[in-house]
Amino acid sequence: MNEEYDVIVLGTGLTECILSGIMSVKGKKVLHMDRNSYYGAESASITPLEDLYKRFNIPGTPPESMGKGRDWNVDLIPKFLMANGQLVRMLLITQVTRYLDFKVIEGSFVYKKGSIYKVPSTEAEALASSLMGLFEKRRFRKFLVFVANFDQNDPKTLEGVDPTKTTMREVYKKFDLGQDVIDFTGHALALYRTDDYLDHPCLDTINRIKLYSESLARYGKSPYLYPLYGLGELPQGFARLSAIYGGTYMLNKPIEEIVMENGKIVGVKSEGEIARCKQLICDPSYVMDHVTKVGQVIRVICIMNHPIKNTSDANSCQIIIPQNQVNRKHDIYVCMISYAHNVAAQGKYVAIVSTTVETSDPEKEIKPALDLLEPVEQKFVSISDQYKPTDLGRESQIFISRSYDATTHFETTCDDIKDIYKRMTGTDFDFAEMERKKNDVFGDDQ
Ligand SMILES: *[C@@H]1O[C@H](CO)[C@@H](O)[C@H](O)[C@H]1NC(C)=O
Repeated sequence: MNEEYDVIVLGTGLTECILSGIMSVKGKKVLHMDRNSYYGAESASITPLEDLYKRFNIPGTPPESMGKGRDWNVDLIPKFLMANGQLVRMLLITQVTRYLDFKVIEGSFVYKKGSIYKVPSTEAEALASSLMGLFEKRRFRKFLVFVANFDQNDPKTLEGVDPTKTTMREVYKKFDLGQDVIDFTGHALALYRTDDYLDHPCLDTINRIKLYSESLARYGKSPYLYPLYGLGELPQGFARLSAIYGGTYMLNKPIEEIVMENGKIVGVKSEGEIARCKQLICDPSYVMDHVTKVGQVIRVICIMNHPIKNTSDANSCQIIIPQNQVNRKHDIYVCMISYAHNVAAQGKYVAIVSTTVETSDPEKEIKPALDLLEPVEQKFVSISDQYKPTDLGRESQIFISRSYDATTHFETTCDDIKDIYKRMTGTDFDFAEMERKKNDVFGDDQ
């Protein structure tokens, strides 16, 4: 261990494993350690089920009805991949896809006045949806056509909208869309967590709706993908990539000290030995004096023996409860997967409810979501602090990821990765750099 590395990475969360993969592919000498005995850190999938009971201090062992503990791989952070999103692009370009199998999530739903509806995102679906009245449908259809044709560089497609000046509120007004339609467009298609976007320039929102529609167009049922055996497979896939390019992995390594000299990282001490490095990447838990708390997220894992009502018995789905519908500032999300994804015993379903905490009684906040899931066999409640770095690494050369937020996709995680990359290297992240060449000497790891 008494060696000199370009980069040391602490914590095997997805963000850290992707960055470790990127740096290794770029030819950096990487050492990656985790204090835990498993991969994934906060973004791990827990197996067997007994470990989940222990982790949440549920007394006793899982009842016989839960089947074999080894059949379970329960995610701590619920997220799906957007089929046309940045993470899928990273997976494809690095060929990490060869270690994973994906399934399409069967449905995407939105909550309105106590009931759930399929999210319409194509013209045909909009016209068939019971979510809107007839005239509203026509106006929404017009809006979708406008978004689909919208090209920032082609004035003919803009219909008088200035992508960088016109606000989204003004765009909705232009198409005369009502509050319910605005709610599901902003929250179930553009996937915003709050309503702040309404007064921002419309370009970002339009691009988000395009991402949703293009992702949906890939596989049809929903824009989301999910890996068999759980999200914990993702960090492990990127860890393998890093290892193929010479990265060294060590689990179960207690970290005793982040060693600095003149305000700059020089190494990491573990089990009495110091490994030296020029740069450090880590999650907030390793450098609590370089981060600040920005809020809390509540997540409730629910095990059920039935699909969710009114979802056509989908074996996987997402439900978004827009904040306006339940008088909140942040949306509530439900991600559900099941035995069909090798994450639960036969006949079992795992729904994870999550949202940003707004009050001192967070369990009460998520009640509208829990009501959709009843009866629930077992609940596992967690409330986690959210951190962001106060130190951006310019002097210290310590690069810290943000805690996983309440969004149910990986786009913000990918933005964080690109941001850290830019701070570390001074250049923008270019997907092409990660491309693995066919004749790469390390390329064949089969
Ligand atoms: C489910 O569908 C029934 C019949 O359409 C409806 O009355 C009920 O409100 C729906 N419940 C939810 C939670 O969507």
